[in-house]
Amino acid sequence: MNRPIVVAGSINLDLVSIGKRIPAPGETVKGDTFHTFHGGKGANQAVAAARLQYPVSMIGKVGADDFGKRLQQGLRAEGINVRAVSAAASSASGVAMISVDAKGQNSITVVPGANNELLPRDLEKCLPLLRSAGIILTQLEIPLESVEYLSTLAQRHKIPFMLDPAPARSIPRTLLRRVTYLTPNETETCALCGISPADLSPATVARYAQFLQGGAANVIVKMGRLGAYVAAADGLRMPFPAFRIKAVDSTAAGDAFNAGLAVALMRGMDLPQAVRFAAAVGALSATRPGAQSSMPQGCEVEQFLRSQEPPRSRDSGAKRALRTANPPPRSRHEAAMPN
Ligand code: RIB
Repeated sequence: MNRPIVVAGSINLDLVSIGKRIPAPGETVKGDTFHTFHGGKGANQAVAAARLQYPVSMIGKVGADDFGKRLQQGLRAEGINVRAVSAAASSASGVAMISVDAKGQNSITVVPGANNELLPRDLEKCLPLLRSAGIILTQLEIPLESVEYLSTLAQRHKIPFMLDPAPARSIPRTLLRRVTYLTPNETETCALCGISPADLSPATVARYAQFLQGGAANVIVKMGRLGAYVAAADGLRMPFPAFRIKAVDSTAAGDAFNAGLAVALMRGMDLPQAVRFAAAVGALSATRPGAQSSMPQGCEVEQFLRSQEPPRSRDSGAKRALRTANPPPRSRHEAAMPN
């Protein structure tokens, strides 16, 4: 029996407008459509991993309200163990106001609500579940003291710990040192390194990834259509180009990526292979609207990855057999890294 992926994180209802442009401060724009989607970075990662057919348990808080019931029911319907998802006594469920433009780019305002009530004392009640984890995933939409608690517990029990440092903020170096996989996007990389966005580019990302890797064991910088950069504990330093897709809505593509990465690592892939798999999960998510609604099934990811392989030649049978026996060298691995 596989040890589960345990996600401790946020659960939100997303209120989403889709239109041509995201409004600038002080501006009113007309949207084309409005939707409510199930979201929250934690819950999105849990759903994405579950759709890849991996056992997942979620730890989180919703409000004692209709949104909360609906969000919890949604997670249950995905086959996720939600026994550690509870209703906060005095806060409403977390919500996110999201604007998506015609290029699939978004801007998000999160009101955490009940997510702010997921405290270390709640996590303590989940100790057996946390200790049973194959990997623990979290983000920064729950209190930082809870992220600290999870990182300490993971280190103590030698459980890999994946931190998506989103939304962007600085975090203590002591916490960073307990992270096994750190997966910032560009904005988050800037916040963690204390630099201005103008200083981060594909040309400089290696420097900043390496700086972060001085703390976290493995750093994977997600750069959307510019791909990704990996600085790993084993010395691997490697850019990954992006898969070409037509983005409809990039919301939660980074969450899809993290879930894909966790599932791939749990299935024994090495880091470059896992990043490629994760990038495919993220890329597919960006081709569909919504957060949890956009997460692909495992078979879709496999099919997408096959479609990215070079076309077969006439003697493909023999070559295919050889390729399977000798997977392509690392430098040929392609990946997309949604942010
Ligand atoms: O990463 C996307 C998510 O961020 C949305 O689903 C929203 O709820 C916010 O948490």
